Amino acid sequence: MRRIQIFDTTLRDGEQSPGASLNVDEKLVIAKQLVSLGVDVIEAGFPTSSPGDFEGVRLIAEKVHGPIICGLARAVAQDIDMAARALEPARRRRIHTFIATSRIHMEKKLKMSPDQVLERAQAAVRRARQYTDDVEFSPEDATRSDLEFLCLVVEAAIDAGATTINIPDTVGYSVPDVFAGRVRYLYEKVPSLRKVVLSVHCHNDLGLAVANSLAAVAAGAGQVECTINGIGERAGNASLEEIVMALRLHGEAIGVETGIHTQEIWNTSRLVSNLTGLEVQRNKAIVGENAFAHEAGIHQHGVILDRSTYEIIRAEDVGWQGNQIVIGKHSGKHGVESVLKDRGYLLEEEQLKEVVKRVKDLTDQEKAVEEDDVVAIARDVMNDLTPEEQLLSLKEVSVMTGNGFTPSATIKLLLEGKEVLGTGTGVGPVDASAHALVSIVSAHLGSSLRLAEYGLKAITGGTDALAHASIRFEDESQNLFRGEAIDADVIIASVQAMVKGANRAMNFRKHRRENGKNGLEPSIQKPAVSTLAAQAAAGDKR
Ligand code: KIV
Ligand code: ZN
Repeated sequence: MRRIQIFDTTLRDGEQSPGASLNVDEKLVIAKQLVSLGVDVIEAGFPTSSPGDFEGVRLIAEKVHGPIICGLARAVAQDIDMAARALEPARRRRIHTFIATSRIHMEKKLKMSPDQVLERAQAAVRRARQYTDDVEFSPEDATRSDLEFLCLVVEAAIDAGATTINIPDTVGYSVPDVFAGRVRYLYEKVPSLRKVVLSVHCHNDLGLAVANSLAAVAAGAGQVECTINGIGERAGNASLEEIVMALRLHGEAIGVETGIHTQEIWNTSRLVSNLTGLEVQRNKAIVGENAFAHEAGIHQHGVILDRSTYEIIRAEDVGWQGNQIVIGKHSGKHGVESVLKDRGYLLEEEQLKEVVKRVKDLTDQEKAVEEDDVVAIARDVMNDLTPEEQLLSLKEVSVMTGNGFTPSATIKLLLEGKEVLGTGTGVGPVDASAHALVSIVSAHLGSSLRLAEYGLKAITGGTDALAHASIRFEDESQNLFRGEAIDADVIIASVQAMVKGANRAMNFRKHRRENGKNGLEPSIQKPAVSTLAAQAAAGDKR
């Protein structure tokens, strides 16, 4: 059996999903869970894209052992040097460098000739090889690149020292037969490709990312790049769990297997969903809420007689946890700790104590606390600002709402030691509270903040469910500041999330004032997606 390498890019391409953003601690938690899952390579980030990404890659390189830790770099010296610096502490490190090879990308984006691209690709691989003997090269937009030119670039990259050649379907353009044909053609025309690993990286714009990846494996690819829950740019990347389970069921027929511990799939899926805020669609293959639910009577009857009548995968093989443990008054620290451990959260002692305290407060109020509640509380605690970062705290909030009049809110904040009051009206009590809070904070900052995103969800069912609120404020320079909070009261959860976001905006300003433009505290903010794209385009021209 050929062993297919599973290259997980949840923390890099997955994190590029619109709406997803992870802080460094969250990235570390996910990386540790990816180790339990048994992935071969973790692409931990794109170090030059933001200080937060650099810090995330560096932390993972330092603390996560087992898989190869990989950092992405454009084919420019500065990116490669920075990726190498971020990866320095890793026991096994890989630099992944890329440059576009399709005519449209070369002409319109890079403004470079094919010869210049070829030269740049070789120079990038050579430079990366100075830092590590594990170098991956990707000809971006490979599926829309001229095949002869693609062969030339691939051969040149191997000559320069690349040990993995990745063929990305960057825009999710290909279909299985054509994609597999491209892989076979490359093997035929570039004999040196047999000496390195051929990898594939498929996007899901046509819903074919998994099918294309599997077709490439059957055609000889030795590595598949994928993400948990299929998250990623636009329509996402190939989903790890779907590829792995398809290979588990059909791998024997094509003589391949993976090293994934499939029982960790469900936990990993939920962890990534919780931390990124990207919900798993109910009917998603393998990890959707409904993946093992049977509605039709005839199906239920069959499943009761023998599960294999209507199930091709046993729920326990992917670690599915249907029934949630309810945490009672007497569950204590060990119960909470074991729930969190099972879900992939390893908290510091102080954080664990705080979670236990908050769980106990809820059980004292006779609230039935389920596993998802515990996880939500843990996330809230992990996201807490340090005491020094709390420039702003909520003293009081009151809202007036109902039909027949305009909802209004009054908020009292403690702002750098002084009490300040703000009022606002809106279409509902949350909107009114947001106006009240934004008016106070914008006046204090001397520039306006805008509530760019707001999300609210009940963690478990029932009218007494904990509410999880998440927000993003945007400032005039498109910097985003996130905030999340949970509470049994939706208004309090929403306002607390806004207070956290406002604190991050104020800290960002404070750091800038103290350290100048480059003195940005990376874990506090992440540039908006559009800013990243602009940086990338500018860098590509260098
Ligand atoms: O989709 C893509 O082309 C990429 C490359 C950087 C591999 O993500
Ligand atoms: Zn990609």
